[in-house]
Amino acid sequence: MITILNFSPRIKGLNDKICDMLCEGFTELKVDYQCIKLRELTIYECSNCRSCMKSPGDDLGTCHLTDDMSQFIKSILQSKCIILSSPINCYDLPSKLQVILERMSIFCHWSDDMYAPKVRLMPHDINGILITTSAMPGVMVPLVTKARKTFRLFAKPLRIKRITYYHLGFKGRATDMAVTEKDKKTVRCIVAKLALDAAATA
Ligand SMILES: Cc1cc2nc3c(=O)[nH]c(=O)nc-3n(C[C@H](O)[C@H](O)[C@H](O)COP(=O)(O)O)c2cc1C
Repeated sequence: MITILNFSPRIKGLNDKICDMLCEGFTELKVDYQCIKLRELTIYECSNCRSCMKSPGDDLGTCHLTDDMSQFIKSILQSKCIILSSPINCYDLPSKLQVILERMSIFCHWSDDMYAPKVRLMPHDINGILITTSAMPGVMVPLVTKARKTFRLFAKPLRIKRITYYHLGFKGRATDMAVTEKDKKTVRCIVAKLALDAAATA
């Protein structure tokens, strides 16, 4: 199963178009996938109570908050590959991901006598792909934003080892808010590669 995570807060924006293209490609090539629009999920901020981190061992902790987070985690843990498609906002990935990162403390053990948390050992082997859209040129994203670092923070507890990055830039003006031929080619390459990987492991 491939999971597409659409982190754009904007309906019918660029990331919606990119995710639609990914979905169409996977449907056409009969690749198993799910697409999650994060803006449709209710995920509350972490209350810093640390109770989810108290239990030792490698089983995920339990959070007292009742929202869509546990279903979200269950869904992504079924994945062989996670594609996160997102705008660059304020030199980083959007704030919803920051909320999710804090809530991912369920992946850590931190007892009262430990100085710092330790990531639980999850038996997973997932590939990760980060696609960003930005006003700035794509080549600047690794240099002046925290996007890759933030994605690696998300990837670590999920045991995502191999990460590939695609930064689609020059999307600042209203006239640039389109998926260009070059972007389409990039998306088609991603779909073709993942379809091959899926066929190889089937
Ligand atoms: C609040 C906000 C902050 C933004 N910050 C940045 C930024 O720091 N760097 C950048 O290159 N583009 C920035 N942008 C432009 C967005 O990256 C661009 O609008 C987005 O990639 C378009 O994707 P979407 O249509 O899915 O929203 C920002 C846009 C907004 C609305």
